[in-house]
Amino acid sequence: MKIASNLKNRKLKEWIAEICAWTQPSHVHLCDGSDEEYQRLAHELVKQGTFIPLNPLKRPNSFLARSNPLDVARVEEKTFICSQKKENAGPTNNWKDPQEMKNTLKTLFKGCMRGRTLYIIPFSMGPLGSPFSRIGVELSDSPYVVCNMKIMTRMGNKVLDVLGEEGTFIPCLHSVGAPLQPGEKDVAWPCNPEKTLIAHFPEERTIWSFGSGYGGNALLGKKCFALRIASVMAKEEGWLAEHMLIVGITNPEGKKKYFAAAFPSACGKTNLAMMRSTLAGWKIECVGDDIAWIKRGKKGRLYAINPEYGFFGVAPGTSPQSNPNALASCCKNAIFTNVALTDDQDVWWEGLSDPPAHLIDWLGKEWTPQTGTCAAHPNSRFTAPADQCPVIDPAWQGVEGVPLSALIFGGRRSDTIPLVYEALDWVHGTLLGCSLSSETTAAAVGKVGQLRHDPFAMLPFCGYHMGDYFNHLLSFAKKEQNQLPHIFSVNWFRKDAHGKYMWPGFGANMHVIKWIFERTEGKNNARKTPIGYLPKKEGFDLSGLSVSEKNLSDLLHVDSSLWQKEVQEMKTYLEKFGPHLPQEIRSTLEALKKRLADGV
Ligand code: OXD
Ligand code: MN
Repeated sequence: MKIASNLKNRKLKEWIAEICAWTQPSHVHLCDGSDEEYQRLAHELVKQGTFIPLNPLKRPNSFLARSNPLDVARVEEKTFICSQKKENAGPTNNWKDPQEMKNTLKTLFKGCMRGRTLYIIPFSMGPLGSPFSRIGVELSDSPYVVCNMKIMTRMGNKVLDVLGEEGTFIPCLHSVGAPLQPGEKDVAWPCNPEKTLIAHFPEERTIWSFGSGYGGNALLGKKCFALRIASVMAKEEGWLAEHMLIVGITNPEGKKKYFAAAFPSACGKTNLAMMRSTLAGWKIECVGDDIAWIKRGKKGRLYAINPEYGFFGVAPGTSPQSNPNALASCCKNAIFTNVALTDDQDVWWEGLSDPPAHLIDWLGKEWTPQTGTCAAHPNSRFTAPADQCPVIDPAWQGVEGVPLSALIFGGRRSDTIPLVYEALDWVHGTLLGCSLSSETTAAAVGKVGQLRHDPFAMLPFCGYHMGDYFNHLLSFAKKEQNQLPHIFSVNWFRKDAHGKYMWPGFGANMHVIKWIFERTEGKNNARKTPIGYLPKKEGFDLSGLSVSEKNLSDLLHVDSSLWQKEVQEMKTYLEKFGPHLPQEIRSTLEALKKRLADGV
C-alpha cells in the first residue's frame, strides 16, 4: 500500500507499514490538518449518517453525532496499565501483563480495519515549539476521531515538520473494531463494545485502543496520552501531568495570578475555567479546562501549559446562567455528541433552557417533556476550539507556560468539607490531594452519586503506582518550598439538612477565588484550625450574594466529629498503597488526627 511521500520520519514510516500490514485498511490517509480536509471528512460523515449538520444560521459549521448507546463514556473497567511489573501499576489501576495484553490486542487488531480508511493523525500536545510540548501520532480508522482531534489538538503537517526525520513521538493506535465485508453498508457509529480495551504500555510509551469511538477512549491525545502516559514521562523527567484546569485571575488593581485546579470528572471544571465573575472589578480568564502540564521554571516557580487546543465539555447543565462562555465557545465550528436535536436543527440538553415541546433525543427518538427520560445523555459533550472562548487568556498559547500561585483541589461533597480552606504547607497540601473524594458522575460508566476516593482527581488517569505519584509530588517540596504555589481545598457542593445546596456556586465562586488570591498575597484573612487555614468570617467578601449568615457559618465550620470520621476514612483508604505510601503522608495524617483530638 502506498503511504504518503511527505512522511519523513523513519520510525513513523516503519510503524505505519507494520500496522497497515496487520490491520489491512482499504485506504490510508495522512491528515494534513487543513480546514479543507475537515470539511471533506465532515461531508463524508454526513453522507454516512454519523454527522447531522446543524442549522447554519444558528450554529455555523457544526454537527451532531449520536453514538451507539453502548458507547457513551470512558470505560474504566476496560482500561489497563500494562507495566512490566504489576506492582508498578499500583492498586488503583487495572493491570495486565504487557505480553499477554499485546497478544490479545494483536488478535483483535488483525484485519480490524478491513473496508475502512486508516487515518494518520500527527498531533502536538502543547504549542508547537514549546519546551513543554510532546508529539503523538494516532492511527485511527474513525473519521469522527480525526475531526475531533483537529479541534482538540494542534494537528497535521506542521506537526510532521517539527517531528522531522528522527524526532520521537508517542504511537497511539485506535480502531473502532468493526471491519466491513466487501459491499457491507456501514453503520452511523461503528464500535465493538463487547471487545473494548484501552491499553497503555508505560515503558514502551504506547497506547492501543480498540472497540470504542467515544471521547477519552478514542481521542487518544487527551486522557490516554496527556495524562496516563504523560504522568509516567513526568515522573521520570521531574515534571507533572495533572487533571487540572488553569485560570488567570486579575484583581481590581490589575494584578494577575494563575491558579490550577483539580476536580474529578464532571464536577464543574469547565464552569470554573470560564467563569463570569460576579465580583466587581475581578476578572477570570481561561488557559485550559481539563489538563495542565507543570514544570519548574524561573526562580524555582512552577509553570503550566494547557496541552490541549479545544474543549471536550459536558453539555448537560451548561446554560447562559451556569457558563455563558462555554456556550459562546460552541456557538460555531463545534461537534456535539449525544445531545438532543431541536425542530429547527439546533441542539438542546437538560439545563440549557426550559424543555422545548418537541425534540429528537440522543437515541434518535421522538421526545416530549412527557417522555420522562433525558433528551440528552448525561455524558453528552461539545467539542469546541479553545480560541472561540470569549475569556481565553492571552497567554494560553505561550510557549513558556504561566506561573502558578495556587493549586486547588475540589470534590463533590455534600458534607464535612468546608467551602474553602488552605493547607498548612506543601506536604499538608499533598495530603489534601491524596484524600480528595467525590460523589461519582456520569463521565465514566457506573453508578452515579456514590462517594469514591479520587486522589488529585487522577484516579482514572495516573499511569503508574499512585503511592509513587504521591512521592513524586512531595519531591517538589524538597526544593524552593517558598516559591511553590499555595494549596487549597474547595467544595461548592455542601448541602443543608433538607438536601439543598448551601452555596450558590458558579459566578459566586469568584468570592472564594478572591479569598484564595488574597491568601497568596499573604493577607491575614484566615484563622488557623486543626484542618488548615479557614476564612475569618469578617475576611470573607459576601457582597452581592444572598448567602445567609447561618449558611456561611456552616460552610466554614469544622465539625470535629465528622472530621475524625473523615480522617479514619482517609487512613483506611490510604493504607491500600502499602509500602508505597510516603511516610510523610502517614505522619501528616497522624498530625491532623492529633490536632483534631486536641482541638488546635
Ligand atoms: C473528561 C473526564 O472527559 O474527566 O474530561 O472524563
Ligand atoms: Mn477531565
